[in-house]
Amino acid sequence: MTDNENKMEKIVSLAKRRGFVFPGSEIYGGLKGTWDLGPLGVALNNNLKQEWWKMFVDGREDMYGLDASILMNAKVWEASGHTGAGFCDPLVEDVETGERFRADHLLKDNGIEAEGMTLSEIDALIKEKDIKSPKGNDLTNAREFNMMFESRVGATAGDEGKVYLRPETAQGIFVNFKNVVDTMAPKMPFGIAQIGKAFRNEIAPREWLFRVREFEQMEIEYFVAEDQWEAEYAKLLEDIRAWHQHIGLLDENIREYEVPDNDLAHYSKRTIDFEYNYPGKGFDELAGFAYRTDHDLKNHEEASGTKMRYTPVDGVPFIPHVLEPSFGIGRALTAVLCEAYTEDTMGESSRMYLKLPAHLAPYRVAVSPLLKNKPQLVEKAREVFTMLKKEFGNVAWDDNGNVGKRYRRQDEIGTPHCVVIDFDTLGEESPEHKDTVTVRDRDTGEQKRVAIGELASYLLQV
Ligand code: GAP
Repeated sequence: MTDNENKMEKIVSLAKRRGFVFPGSEIYGGLKGTWDLGPLGVALNNNLKQEWWKMFVDGREDMYGLDASILMNAKVWEASGHTGAGFCDPLVEDVETGERFRADHLLKDNGIEAEGMTLSEIDALIKEKDIKSPKGNDLTNAREFNMMFESRVGATAGDEGKVYLRPETAQGIFVNFKNVVDTMAPKMPFGIAQIGKAFRNEIAPREWLFRVREFEQMEIEYFVAEDQWEAEYAKLLEDIRAWHQHIGLLDENIREYEVPDNDLAHYSKRTIDFEYNYPGKGFDELAGFAYRTDHDLKNHEEASGTKMRYTPVDGVPFIPHVLEPSFGIGRALTAVLCEAYTEDTMGESSRMYLKLPAHLAPYRVAVSPLLKNKPQLVEKAREVFTMLKKEFGNVAWDDNGNVGKRYRRQDEIGTPHCVVIDFDTLGEESPEHKDTVTVRDRDTGEQKRVAIGELASYLLQV
């Protein structure tokens, strides 16, 4: 196993051990392609979403938020093209066991890049290279497999009640385009942003949170006049770069990949994939940025009969074109954990810690009494804890084990600072330290004495 594969394994194991990510339905043997966020995972995930919303919605005048239903009228997906071949993956089956595989993944495992290939090109390559299933058996010809999850509403039988779980949050935005324009009177260009669940019946979910069947997206549909698209695309590109910096991803670990024409999604005229250098996997997609033209609004106008137009000051209504930055939260969370995972030596012992940015860490700070069996220390520590909790919200109370063990535990979950209330705080040993606490820094291990009255502002600065 390479160091990098080893690193990913350590991260997945830490994530389970410390309550970030658990396998879905674990006590029943799991359910492939599903993962549950534990107490710390949900905190990190929520911080990512909040920061994204602050940057892309609250921090701007040209963005409007939305929270559309996951279940939508099935006609939405016919109009968007998702029920057709455009939203399919190539599927092959093991002729002996019936197990299903993604043909392009099997080819990739054999060193062949299958992006953009037709089914017959895939079949020809499988024959030519004599590619077998992982069990060594022959494979069927490749066929298209649609990734949408189907369900039925109410008690209706047959196709009438058929619905799909949305495979992208984007369509909820398109179908509400007119509602937002009518209610908010936005000035062009403007965007509508949404965070929510999406579902894809992936043939081969794999690589932890990377390819799953249920995941969250943070998406923006940014509406522009056709002749504005290139200039606005360039501006949003900068905003996406700034976002990746804001969540602590190093430039050297991000690559921008211009998707070739023959591999563009069915709706896209230009797409740049932001790829992250995942340990043990290498560069692969983190987020996408597509120019969707007027594909979606035009199709929804035709299919629904509702005008999807914007009326500018000159009074001639038109169908806007769309730029779409689309972020998968699970992949962002994975990248953030990979970037933060650090091993070093502190004092005599080696340790691992998560060097998370303070605005993403599950806990902003942890508070402890030096000894938990000394009521005066506990009482003072509870006072400090309550004060910091009012200020930051996400503050941990940690009185398990000795102080050294608490530091290691908080290091492992990425808490930037630990505050310890000791006998000096009570003024018992050195009166000049009365009402000061020890603040210990996660990355350097340095300790400082800080007055309780200045603690919150100190923590905001460091
Ligand atoms: N609305 C456009 C759209 O959905 P996409 O490239 O199919 O585009 C956008 O998906 C992002 O959603 C991806 O960059 C990725 O971060 C995330 N994503 C897509 N499929 C995923 C899956 N099966 N598991 C985890 N994340 C996924």
